[in-house]
Amino acid sequence: MYQRYYSRFLAAHQNVLHMAAHSHHFWPDVTREAQIQYWDDSCRMADEKWSYFFTTQVPRTQHHIAKTLNISSPEQIVFAANTHEFVMRLYSCFDLTKKLVVLTTDSEFYSFERQTQRLAESSQLEIIKVPTEPFATFAERFVAASKKHQPQFIFLSHVFFNSGWMCPLDQILPQLSPDTVKVVDAYHSFMAVPFDWSPFEKDIFYLSGSYKYAQGGEGCCFLYVPPKSPLRPAYTGWFAELSNLASKTNEVFYPENGLRFAGSTLDFTSLYRLNAVYDLFEKDQVTLKDQHQFVQSLQKSFLKRLEQSPLLMHLRDRLIFQNWEEQGHFLTFELSSVEETISLVQSLKKQGIWTDSRKNRIRFGFGLYLTEKDFDRWIK
Ligand SMILES: Cc1ncc(COP(=O)(O)O)c(C=O)c1O
Repeated sequence: MYQRYYSRFLAAHQNVLHMAAHSHHFWPDVTREAQIQYWDDSCRMADEKWSYFFTTQVPRTQHHIAKTLNISSPEQIVFAANTHEFVMRLYSCFDLTKKLVVLTTDSEFYSFERQTQRLAESSQLEIIKVPTEPFATFAERFVAASKKHQPQFIFLSHVFFNSGWMCPLDQILPQLSPDTVKVVDAYHSFMAVPFDWSPFEKDIFYLSGSYKYAQGGEGCCFLYVPPKSPLRPAYTGWFAELSNLASKTNEVFYPENGLRFAGSTLDFTSLYRLNAVYDLFEKDQVTLKDQHQFVQSLQKSFLKRLEQSPLLMHLRDRLIFQNWEEQGHFLTFELSSVEETISLVQSLKKQGIWTDSRKNRIRFGFGLYLTEKDFDRWIK
């Protein structure tokens, strides 16, 4: 149904069933023209391209993202090459020579997890990690931990990278203290699961990027900065000063909009690609809801197929949860060991089925470029 958008990536992988969209989503054909357009614009405008980017392409991307999230201030969105840059910039808002209590989960992606562990070696960081499982009680346990430990910094995912489980942010976020810096890593829900961010836009940071479900490729990560944020990242670059370059004072100036959290010179190719994807779906009236429904129908038919497949039926009872209301765009199965998991990923790959794993869990992802017919062909 949507395969026509991906003719180039599909042609390059005719002997592959690509079930890793949750990691490396195929790019629609329109991104290729967008990439070339970036080159042409750079050639045509040379030095003047920057003012064009900041007045045209950046606001377009901000507008698209703001529409997806239903937020009212697109100018609060700022871009960086990866989410790690924002993680570090957020940490740099705190005085790490003093005690900093961080509340998080045991299931955050390495860009946060590894950096946090490392900072804890040489600072006064105290890390409280709430296990995501059992999922049914996570919201209650997370909120209780926030009341008990009174953290200054809270960081949690919306859909967890090691399970695909979508936590009930609606039950958690309103109960967190307004005095805490709160960040949601939504990389696995952005442009996958429709979600209205407007109830939280006043005081919660939203972090994501375009490499996965947004399909714009790497290089276009973004942070939504709540308006009137008083934070002053010490890890700052000159883009934050863009509106104030003529200033003669020595004071380090921070703008009120998202640029407050900006770094420095970026390759904007990825914004061009992301805009092209948004324009494509807007033109063809393919909504996020349509995409989500389509992916869920693929997931359901994959599970049915798996039941009858000598190749995969041993995974039948290994699905770590199944609740379509709380499900991201990949299915996760838990095996007995890391070795068994890696060996399954490798043997599937030899047979043309691309998946990936995290510890002893194998993940099957569902991109718009798959069809039920593919499962008939591949899942024997
Ligand atoms: C939940 C989550 N956050 C962030 C990232 C990406 O991090 P970065 O942009 O720092 O590479 C990933 C990548 O897989 C992820 O799963």
